[in-house]
Amino acid sequence: MLVTGCSSGIGGAIAARLATAGWPVYATARRPDALAGLEKLGCHAVRLDVTDDASMEAAVEVIAAEHGAVGVLVNNAGFSQSGAVETVALDRARRQFDTNFFGPARLTQLVLPGMRAQGWGKVINISSMGGRLTFPGGGYYHATKYALEALSDALRFEVGGFGIDVVLIEPGFIRTGFSEAAAASVDAEAAAGDDPYREFTAGVLASTRRVYDRGVMSRLAGSPDDVARVVLEAITASRPRARYPVAPSARLLRGLRALMPDRAWDAFMSRLFVQPGGSGG
Ligand SMILES: NC(=O)c1ccc[n+]([C@@H]2O[C@H](COP(=O)([O-])OP(=O)(O)OC[C@H]3O[C@@H](n4cnc5c(N)ncnc54)[C@H](OP(=O)(O)O)[C@@H]3O)[C@@H](O)[C@H]2O)c1
Repeated sequence: MLVTGCSSGIGGAIAARLATAGWPVYATARRPDALAGLEKLGCHAVRLDVTDDASMEAAVEVIAAEHGAVGVLVNNAGFSQSGAVETVALDRARRQFDTNFFGPARLTQLVLPGMRAQGWGKVINISSMGGRLTFPGGGYYHATKYALEALSDALRFEVGGFGIDVVLIEPGFIRTGFSEAAAASVDAEAAAGDDPYREFTAGVLASTRRVYDRGVMSRLAGSPDDVARVVLEAITASRPRARYPVAPSARLLRGLRALMPDRAWDAFMSRLFVQPGGSGG
């Protein structure tokens, strides 16, 4: 099993749970020194940066040499590039897509020949409830997760006949370093000066932290191991579902979004976020 982004959070929990369940796990990260704890659980530590093709090819080759092919790929590495659509520099938006979308897409391309040759395999994509609904200030992040959902739906059909399954995991709010990384992603220079979105962006960051720390939503958050348990379930099921929401926040907000017309969702968001411009459209 090859898991990306294991230096922390959800990826670390997935690698730990799979290794503890007795599977051979190749836990990967940009900085392999961050994998010492997982090595103690029996994981193989491999350097892999999802924006670096050579590192992905090398990791897949290591597994192919030892096991013939990758059996299960868990595309987990990712982060949120937060900020208003108008103010996020496009090089940051491209980096967001390189990590959250093109990384998983390329790694999937690299493992599929081996999976086809052995006649089985599973690609588990860690998407988000944010691949099914959007929050203001997360436009580029959501765009990557919607793209990952679309890619996974097409791929599931294309590779099903080769014995390969594709599963989307859609976590809600999960307590990890994710919100800190989202806060750090905001371009401080762009948010300074006479930025018309300054108050909005500050509000997005405050509410991102709040949903994990306190209030009603924080009670609906989950742990990284909640996600790991669902990944294990999807891997071991003979007929896994195409999508697994994780944590009460994912089930609640996905349900609300499905029921609400688009403008009703906008009105709901205006109760949670300061709307830039102030005219209310
Ligand atoms: N936490 C949530 O509420 C939540 C909800 C829905 C979905 N998710 C998804 O869950 C996944 C994991 O997030 P998390 O919550 O566990 O956040 P996290 O604790 O910040 O972990 C993110 C992981 O991704 C890695 N990563 C980032 N860029 C990378 C790159 N270029 N190559 C390889 N690894 C890279 C990070 O490695 P470094 O240590 O090297 O930065 C880290 O291991 C993400 O795809 C995220 O979108 C999270």
